[in-house]
Amino acid sequence: MKISIIGAGNVGGKLGKLWAEKGHTIIYGVRNPLTPKVQTILQETGHSATAELVKNAVQKSDVAVLATPWEAVGEVVFQLVGLQGKILVDCTNPIHPNPDWPLAQESSAAEEIAKRLSGFKVVKAFNTIGAENFSDLTFGVLHADAFMCGDDAEAKKIVSQLAKDIGFDAVDVGNLRSAEMLESLAKLWLTLAHQQGIGSNIAFKLLHK
Ligand SMILES: NC(=O)c1ccc[n+]([C@@H]2O[C@H](COP(=O)([O-])OP(=O)(O)OC[C@H]3O[C@@H](n4cnc5c(N)ncnc54)[C@H](OP(=O)(O)O)[C@@H]3O)[C@@H](O)[C@H]2O)c1
Repeated sequence: MKISIIGAGNVGGKLGKLWAEKGHTIIYGVRNPLTPKVQTILQETGHSATAELVKNAVQKSDVAVLATPWEAVGEVVFQLVGLQGKILVDCTNPIHPNPDWPLAQESSAAEEIAKRLSGFKVVKAFNTIGAENFSDLTFGVLHADAFMCGDDAEAKKIVSQLAKDIGFDAVDVGNLRSAEMLESLAKLWLTLAHQQGIGSNIAFKLLHK
């Protein structure tokens, strides 16, 4: 699958490397493909990964993964308006307020993005666990869950497979209205890991009997 990754940072760089190892084609969508930082990510990713300006990268891909700070989302979305038929995986967490793009009460980053990008099938995913865990998602005999939600069943099926490709179990949490819960779950993860001092080697798991 051709995957564009907007934001080659902690989340984007790690997901890109892991998916490239599984045979997916990675195109990072960046502000400047020639910076040393981007060149380093390309080297680390290997497998003929490339970097392009954001819109070009998304145009060339089947699935776009949004992994920038929430504060940058307005600028990114502005470049993508008008593109059609892509899946957009929103990994962002609106931890810090974005004064240019305030979130309506009871809304979520993912829903706001979907409102503005009507040509995209938005799936919220990969936001409820620290990126430092992506390279090893096993916890004893269990695998960390990738909770996801979205309004398009086929898009969620594809994102579930991408999650499983890198070692997650996938849990469908329903339609995009559930994104608010997933963004709150990320706040719980951050509180446990940092404020409560448990550390970042933790993950959420849905247990069944
Ligand atoms: N870190 C985690 O463990 C974690 C886990 C789950 C979800 N999240 C969420 O995922 C998102 C990314 O987090 P992160 O930790 O990966 O952040 P990060 O390491 O700071 O990386 C952010 C990336 O976004 C790029 N970027 C910023 N503005 C951009 C723009 N306008 N256009 C294109 N690229 C832009 C940055 O590029 P430059 O180098 O050019 O600035 C950088 O590569 C955040 O919303 C965060 O809340 C983080």
